[in-house]
Amino acid sequence: MPFSAAETILDEIARLPDHRLYGRVAGVLGMTVEVAGLERVLSIGSRCVVIARGDRRVPCEVVGFRDGRALLLPFGKLDGVGLGCRAELAEAEPVVHPAAGWLGRVVNALGEPIDGKGPLPQGPQSYALRADPPPAHGRARVGGKIDLGVRALNSFLTCCRGQRMGIFAGSGVGKSVLLSMLARYTATDVNVIGLIGERGREVQEWLEDDLGPEGLARSVVVVATSDEPPLMRRQAAHLTLSLAEAFRDQGREVLCLIDSVTRFAMAMREIGLSAGEPPASKGYTPSVFAELPRLLERAGPGQAGQGAITGLFTVLVEGDDHNEPVADAVRGILDGHIVLERQIAERGRYPAINILRSVSRTMPACNEPEENALVESARRLLSTYEDMAELIRIGAYRQGSDATVDMAIRHYPAIEAVLKQDKNERADLAGGYAALAAALGLEWPSAQAGSSEDAPPPPPETVEQGAPA
Ligand SMILES: Nc1ncnc2c1ncn2[C@@H]1O[C@H](COP(=O)(O)OP(=O)(O)OP(=O)(O)O)[C@@H](O)[C@H]1O
Ligand SMILES: [Mg+2]
Repeated sequence: MPFSAAETILDEIARLPDHRLYGRVAGVLGMTVEVAGLERVLSIGSRCVVIARGDRRVPCEVVGFRDGRALLLPFGKLDGVGLGCRAELAEAEPVVHPAAGWLGRVVNALGEPIDGKGPLPQGPQSYALRADPPPAHGRARVGGKIDLGVRALNSFLTCCRGQRMGIFAGSGVGKSVLLSMLARYTATDVNVIGLIGERGREVQEWLEDDLGPEGLARSVVVVATSDEPPLMRRQAAHLTLSLAEAFRDQGREVLCLIDSVTRFAMAMREIGLSAGEPPASKGYTPSVFAELPRLLERAGPGQAGQGAITGLFTVLVEGDDHNEPVADAVRGILDGHIVLERQIAERGRYPAINILRSVSRTMPACNEPEENALVESARRLLSTYEDMAELIRIGAYRQGSDATVDMAIRHYPAIEAVLKQDKNERADLAGGYAALAAALGLEWPSAQAGSSEDAPPPPPETVEQGAPA
């Protein structure tokens, strides 16, 4: 039931605090504002509103303390902020009141609409922006398989409801396009999508061309572009999870997508450095690595009786270095990783997923034995082919030297064709297995796994044996 306008206004009045505490700006250095007079009431994460000259209100957050003064970072521009400006204590814990009417809308990190479609309906329940993940012992287990609508993922990297996966790739290898496919094709009720630190121009293009009106209709999109202050970028990621939690608590199946976790980590790095934290690996401060699990653990299965948040998060690997610190940390937190590779994109096979380097940790437990056997066979052929690829390409491999390699060469183009998927094509779980079986020349559904004549033999102990002398 939508609230009447009067009720909404009364509600908002009731939420207003009945008194205000304030201090004064005692220094400004770069993006950091020092406030004196409120040290006894402020703590890390507290909110203040600094009143800039001309009465502009700049919301700020406490990120540290130095020499008895609070260090604040702004959520907006610091123009007009100077010594002596008033700094009012704001509501202790920022909350949002999401409602079903937020679907189809685009909001900023503060939960305000930025799509020009008018005000957002406010739901009855408040959600903290920085909630804790559900307690580990009270969490349900991951659910059954989820249809992601992308063949390569469905068959080789099957995901379960409530699973969290990372998509790791260098710049321009197809992360955003893959995310848009997931947003449009995944079999969930609701998408919550966080676009963190993207270029402003790309956001609109992505919303209109990649996500499209159909995808947007079942999504809430949270945007903080690269030119926004680091606090906005960090908060956008947290808001994304808060909205996902709100829909999950209503028993909905939620898909939570964040593009990208790296830009969130970079925002955290800027915040940490401003607060005087020492840089550790690659300039990232220790608080970045403490904050990453706090964010990512919020996705996943809820408590018994709730829905689940299936999470897919992109990680930008700078210079295609898959061992850089953020990638490493994220890989350790999530239940699997999908690696996109530039060489694969360069030869035009999209989505450019390197199957052999990617892992879903809920596999093989979530599959039927014959599905596992099928995927295993295909993986083996891919691996054999990749091992021999160089020799095959330069023509140094002689046909007939090794039966397994011959089989890999024979089936490779068909497996590649299964992995290739146009961004406008929707795949489904069952179709993926059928296509893979056809690529391997197997009957599907197979009456008995491995009984087919043409089933690939087990791999030789070392593939190198097959190399020509
Ligand atoms: N499935 C696809 N089919 C065809 N082309 C694709 C596909 N995926 C990606 N591309 C091509 O790759 C380009 C880059 O893709 P995308 O913007 O998704 O990369 P990205 O990894 O998000 O880049 P960035 O790091 O800059 O955000 C696209 O503009 C498009 O030309
Ligand atoms: Mg992108």
